[in-house]
This record gives sequence, structure tokens and C-alpha cells, in this order.
Amino acid sequence: MQAITLRPLSAEDSLLELTAMLHSAFSRLGRMGIFCSCVDQSVARTRQRVGLGECFVAECEGRVVGTLTLHRHERGSESDVYRSRRVASLHQFAVDPEYQGRGVGGKLLELAETWAARHGYDELALDTPTAAAHLIAFYRHQGFRLAEILRFSGRDYASAVLAKNVLRAAATSHVLRFRRPAMTLCGVNPDTFAGHSHPGRTVRAPSPRIR
Ligand SMILES: CC(C)(COP(=O)(O)OP(=O)(O)OC[C@H]1O[C@@H](n2cnc3c(N)ncnc32)[C@H](O)[C@@H]1OP(=O)(O)O)[C@@H](O)C(=O)NCCC(=O)NCCS
Repeated sequence: MQAITLRPLSAEDSLLELTAMLHSAFSRLGRMGIFCSCVDQSVARTRQRVGLGECFVAECEGRVVGTLTLHRHERGSESDVYRSRRVASLHQFAVDPEYQGRGVGGKLLELAETWAARHGYDELALDTPTAAAHLIAFYRHQGFRLAEILRFSGRDYASAVLAKNVLRAAATSHVLRFRRPAMTLCGVNPDTFAGHSHPGRTVRAPSPRIR
């Protein structure tokens, strides 16, 4: 059984490979005619975007198979929600298509909620194209609610901003262990994730064990 580890992006990770994974994960949106940045962004753009916040990755057998980047509140954002001091936001969120549907994205979201709560935020928010009904359904399933609809500058599609209260995450979720705070190296409590299952859903073999 393959193990999946959630950890911060490190200097050793290849941004070329991370970018290729983003392109692959976002190809579905590209096929829908929704050309958000991750569909075809350059490695330089990936580097710039991970630098805007704290980037975490899901790793399996030495390969990055998932990622997201977390931002503190964005004073200059066009989104009313992102500008709120109570709100952290999540960006550049993707799981390698080969690993989708196995719980990796859900665990990355749990990590994001814990991160937001531990940094003193009440809410975690994200945006997704309004035309991506499958993603809105996914986020609603994860407990997010529609908070705002707007068209960000430079995008030719409308975006839905979804938000979720994370105060419960602070009280109940797993521990983020910072082994080397200066390097933002951390691990996720293995006890919480061992044995995580998805009742009622077929898990493709080999199914990953998240630790
Ligand atoms: C969105 C994405 C990150 C989700 O990651 P994932 O690893 O496939 O998701 P998971 O397997 O963890 O699914 C988590 C839960 O959501 C549910 N879910 C998945 N798709 C769903 C949908 N369309 N509607 C409702 N629920 C859905 C799963 O059944 C699972 O439920 P459970 O925890 O109760 O069993 C991944 O599909 C992806 O990378 N997509 C392409 C890139 C992208 O669109 N990113 C988001 C841009 S805003």
C-alpha cells in the first residue's frame, strides 16, 4: 500500500514537475474552455504563486501528487471576502489525476482548515469558476458555502468565492507539527490519518494510506 505524506513544499521539490502536475490536473477545465492560470502557467508563474503564501504538497513515493497554497488575508484583493481580516484563502489547489478520488484533496483541505484556524482566522475561502459545477459541488460537499460572485481582473470568466468556518477545525482537527519552524517543515499527525476510509466509495487500487 502506498503512503501519502502531507508536507510543506521544500527547496528540493521540482517546480517544473509541480507545474506539469498542475497542467495535468487542470486540463479538464481547459477542455471546458475555462483557462484559469493553472491550465497552462509557466514555471516562473508557479514559482511566483507559491511565493505568495505557504505551499503544501502531498507526496507519494517521492513524487508530488497534490498541492495547495495558503494565503493570509489579502488586503488588496478585488474580493470582499478575501479582504476580510477574518479570512485566509486557498489557491493553486490540485491533485494529480492518477490520485484523484482517493481522499488526497479532502486531506489537503483539512490541513488548510487547520492552518487557517491555527493562524487565527475564522474562515477559509477559495474561488472557482462559476461554470465549474463539479468543483462547486465538491466544495459544498466539503462544507463550503457560496459567499460572493465576481469577475477578477484579467479573467474572462466569473468566479464563485466559497467560504467555510474553520473554528471547529481548530478544536477537532489534526496537529500540524513544525519540526523546523524556520524552514516551515512540518508533518501531519499520522494517528489521525491512519485508517482513514471512504465508506460507500470505490477506492482504486493501490489505495494510498495518508500519514
Ligand atoms: C478538486 C480536487 C483537488 C479534489 O481532490 P480529490 O483528491 O480528487 O478529492 P477527494 O478524493 O479527497 O474527494 C473528497 C470528497 O469529495 C467528494 N467529491 C469529489 N468530487 C465531488 C463532486 N463533484 N461533488 C460532490 N462531492 C465530490 C468525494 O466523494 C469525497 O467525499 P468523501 O470524503 O465523503 O468520501 C481534484 O479533483 C483536482 O485536482 N481537480 C483538478 C484541479 C482543480 O479543479 N482544482 C480546483 C480548482 S478551484
